[in-house]
Amino acid sequence: MHDSFVTYKNFYFLKVASALTAVLIIFYLFHDAYPEPNGGSWLGYLLGILGAVILIWLSLLGIRKRRYRESQGNTVSWVSAHIYLGSALIIITTLHSGFQFALNIHFLGYFLTLLVVLTGFYGLYAYSVYPDKITANCGDLTRDTMFDEVIDLDERSLAIAESVSADFYAQILDLIESCRVKPSLFQQIFSNSDYKNANLESLVNRIKNSINSDHDNRDNLNLLHDLIIGKYALLKKIDWDIRYNCRLNWWLYLHVPLTLALIAAVAIHVFIIFYYWW
Ligand code: HEM
Ligand code: HEM
Repeated sequence: MHDSFVTYKNFYFLKVASALTAVLIIFYLFHDAYPEPNGGSWLGYLLGILGAVILIWLSLLGIRKRRYRESQGNTVSWVSAHIYLGSALIIITTLHSGFQFALNIHFLGYFLTLLVVLTGFYGLYAYSVYPDKITANCGDLTRDTMFDEVIDLDERSLAIAESVSADFYAQILDLIESCRVKPSLFQQIFSNSDYKNANLESLVNRIKNSINSDHDNRDNLNLLHDLIIGKYALLKKIDWDIRYNCRLNWWLYLHVPLTLALIAAVAIHVFIIFYYWW
């Protein structure tokens, strides 16, 4: 999917965006701006309006994406145009400003453009890395089927533990009730260490010791050991699945609100320009 939006139709939108920015740079270099290039020259207005039109078009992706999903189509061409025209917006708005940067409300729009594009690049990276990691981690299993398997392992462990001893039964029940897979937001985004469950590990050690000492229940204890180890492996997969999915999508919680802030900043920018003009 990721490669398809980057390379879509042999980099068609990269070529379109490059041709557009090349023409605009040539105009910028050769236009006669007095006393110096700025957003108020004829080219400055043209670039500002073009930037605003592209901004609105890019912002409509969210709506289009959802409509298209409903009709089972694909969004590859829109996303491909989105990433290249979105990147071109940096050049268009820089030329529009005539490199006149000062800490004011006009600059806020420019700064937000940079942030939206930066988060977009992270998104592109995330789309290129995490879908493969999710598949490598879970294969064909979904999170729901993994949880179903955990429940199945729990039920089988309880049934076996009941036949071993009341103490084991109580411990397995306790483990089931206390077991949580809930990485914090920080862990979801940054941590690369495997899920750890100290109770489960100590129970596995207890079972191992009992296998050596309790000969009558050895077969059941071996089975119990395998079931608990199987559950631990599944919990680790579920935990990674939660983290990879978060890493795949969290940037959209910046990209979209920053887009809204950018639209508001540009609207204020244009309002102020015309307010002082009249
Ligand atoms: C993505 C959209 C836009 C961004 C990020 C943007 C950003 C900027 C920036 C950074 C400046 C330089 C400010 C300064 O001189 O201190 C500027 C100037 C200007 N912009 Fe925009 N702009 C956008 C759209 C527009 C639009 C749609 C218009 C008008 C229709 C417009 C009209 C102007 C004008 C007239 C100036 C010159 C202001 C002056 O020299 O005092 N801009 N813009
Ligand atoms: C100022 C420029 C940009 C604006 C205003 C913008 C805005 C948006 C919006 C509104 C969405 C829809 C999100 C949703 O509803 O799920 C979106 C999605 C996205 N944007 Fe941007 N974006 C910009 C630039 C970029 C750039 C430069 C890139 C990459 C280099 C990029 C990559 C993406 C990706 C990968 C998606 C997700 C598409 C999907 O899930 O199918 N964006 N953007």
